[in-house]
Amino acid sequence: MPRLALYPGSFDPVTNGHLDVLRRALRLFDRVEVTVGVNVAKHGLFSAEERIELIEASTAEWSEDERARLSIETFDGLIVDRAKARRAVALVRGLRQVSDFDYEMRMAVANRRMAEDIVTLFLTPEPENAFTSASLVREIHRFGGDVSSFVPPPVLARLRARS
Ligand code: PNS
Repeated sequence: MPRLALYPGSFDPVTNGHLDVLRRALRLFDRVEVTVGVNVAKHGLFSAEERIELIEASTAEWSEDERARLSIETFDGLIVDRAKARRAVALVRGLRQVSDFDYEMRMAVANRRMAEDIVTLFLTPEPENAFTSASLVREIHRFGGDVSSFVPPPVLARLRARS
């Protein structure tokens, strides 16, 4: 049976760091579903449909093999329920710095308690994206700053069209 991993997150918007983690996950699993989830603690910039569109556009130039093994979906509920329903074996999360650790551990431990068989796997982005985050992108963009080194071209174009 093909091994599926979910890569859950808000992706508001998708960043170069997310894309790097996604590509690495595709090297480890047969299939990866990017699950655009709802983070109740975050106020959104883009709608779920726009986030999906932007991930699609940002991966459009990837190899046929990568694109064939990748899907992008939204999900509103517990991520472990989605993982069980899709028979996923793992949840992939990017881990950038120590400051991510508390939040990520809390989620991983809670998810493990709810679904013992589903493994949370942390992947690190390349060093140039170690400090890239969607919230930083939203903040810099809000005050008119240049986010071109943090996001892929389709996201940059959409942000510019909005300002
Ligand atoms: O990119 P984010 O905002 O850090 O992603 C967080 C997300 C969406 C993955 C997380 O909030 C999530 O899994 N939400 C779905 C609801 C859920 O399962 N919550 C319990 C996690 S402990």
